[in-house]
Amino acid sequence: MIPFNHLGWFFKYLGPTAYPRDAIKELCHFIRPLPQQASLLDLGSGTGVLSEFAYKCRDDLRFVAIDPSEGMLKFSPPYVETHTARAEQLPFDEAGFELVIIGEALHHFQDPDIVIQEIVRVLKDDGRLFIYEFDPSRSLGKYICLAEKMAGEPANFFKPKVLKNMLEGYGFSVDITLHGWRYTVKAQLTGATDL
Ligand SMILES: C[S@@+](CC[C@H](N)C(=O)[O-])C[C@H]1O[C@@H](n2cnc3c(N)ncnc32)[C@H](O)[C@@H]1O
Repeated sequence: MIPFNHLGWFFKYLGPTAYPRDAIKELCHFIRPLPQQASLLDLGSGTGVLSEFAYKCRDDLRFVAIDPSEGMLKFSPPYVETHTARAEQLPFDEAGFELVIIGEALHHFQDPDIVIQEIVRVLKDDGRLFIYEFDPSRSLGKYICLAEKMAGEPANFFKPKVLKNMLEGYGFSVDITLHGWRYTVKAQLTGATDL
């Protein structure tokens, strides 16, 4: 297993470099229509890298984050409300969030199906989901997938089309953008027209 609890300093300073500029632009564009002071939930937030990108475009939002590793959470920026928890069992009531974001973390979750059910539970009716992930069928993505399997991680990597189908099965409309061996998912529950 990757010892995330001891790697906060590493992800705090090098984590942002793993995100392509276009993926960050997409995130900004995607969160622009959210109402003022909407609630954002960052799953597997680590040190809060993806929340920090979102904050640069929408500093009015309420930022909430969960991660099981306190050694990662302790590096979160002060405007993020952190909870030590797993994505499979979210400590929140139903329909409390307008947006869920997940950066480089879905493949670490033990049970992505349960996590998606939890996301649907905590999202409002027209809630949005943004995911940034690695494609296990493309160049560097293949090696990261292999390395994580060897490290004993869940390595639940999905090809973009497979994740799209999975999310559609839970009632999301889904738009995928490829960034070479990485990709982003923009999804919205019921009645989405403006991804
Ligand atoms: C590669 S880090 C990504 C952190 C951050 N999202 C970023 O973009 O830098 C993966 C994170 O997933 C977290 N994680 C692992 N299993 C988890 C689970 N079941 N639920 C929530 N987070 C989990 C780890 O503790 C770690 O902080």
